[in-house]
Amino acid sequence: MIIAIDGPAGAGKSTIAKEIAQKLGWVYIDTGAMYRAVALCILSQGIDLADTNTITAALANIQIKISHINKNQHIFLNKEDVTNKIRTSEISNAASTIAAISAVRDNLVQLQRTLAHTTNVVMDGRDIGSVVFPNADLKIFLTASLAERTNRRFKEQTENGKIVEWNKIFSEIELRDKADCSRVDSPLIQAEDAILVDTSNLTADMVVDHILQLAKDKVGVQFD
Ligand code: DC
Repeated sequence: MIIAIDGPAGAGKSTIAKEIAQKLGWVYIDTGAMYRAVALCILSQGIDLADTNTITAALANIQIKISHINKNQHIFLNKEDVTNKIRTSEISNAASTIAAISAVRDNLVQLQRTLAHTTNVVMDGRDIGSVVFPNADLKIFLTASLAERTNRRFKEQTENGKIVEWNKIFSEIELRDKADCSRVDSPLIQAEDAILVDTSNLTADMVVDHILQLAKDKVGVQFD
């Protein structure tokens, strides 16, 4: 079975999806990490992010692998564990740029479909319910106001000891939303049959409980 969770940057997708997978005993797959790993590889080779042809050609030598270690997703780029390296704002922006390239998407969508072949998954991203798994058992479109999403990123980064500016985070998320929503191939949209969950005024626990209840009521998922 597949639960697809899509939505804009900072809506809480990964926190929520991870917790739901944990509660159900399913596998959590963060597809954004795949786009981030490709972006890291492209940047580290000094390839211009606007050079679609060179990026497309480079894909032949990019191997992305997902493993779960102690229930946490680890992402490997050509055998190197890059799980932590991909969490910078430079990579966030580059991932959004290369995610507009169809060849990149085709590659990663294929990998995402393969990963769900043999196991139940909770997968988060931008196009999981609309493109990757149009027949997903349950589709959630998770969102929150831009200000609230900025607050969360600001808190997260500050707690990690980073010195960041609220306004800068706000503009970066706004820009990334625009890029993700306006690209031609698989833009961020709410699938017709996706259920909208606005998390602006909800705690993570409330959102998790709400989605688990939907999974139980709508698709008969059993959990303790
Ligand atoms: O979820 P994230 O912030 O880690 O994703 C990074 C970028 O990757 C995001 O700006 C858009 C892209 N992405 C995508 O296009 N499709 C997905 N399924 C997941 C992420």
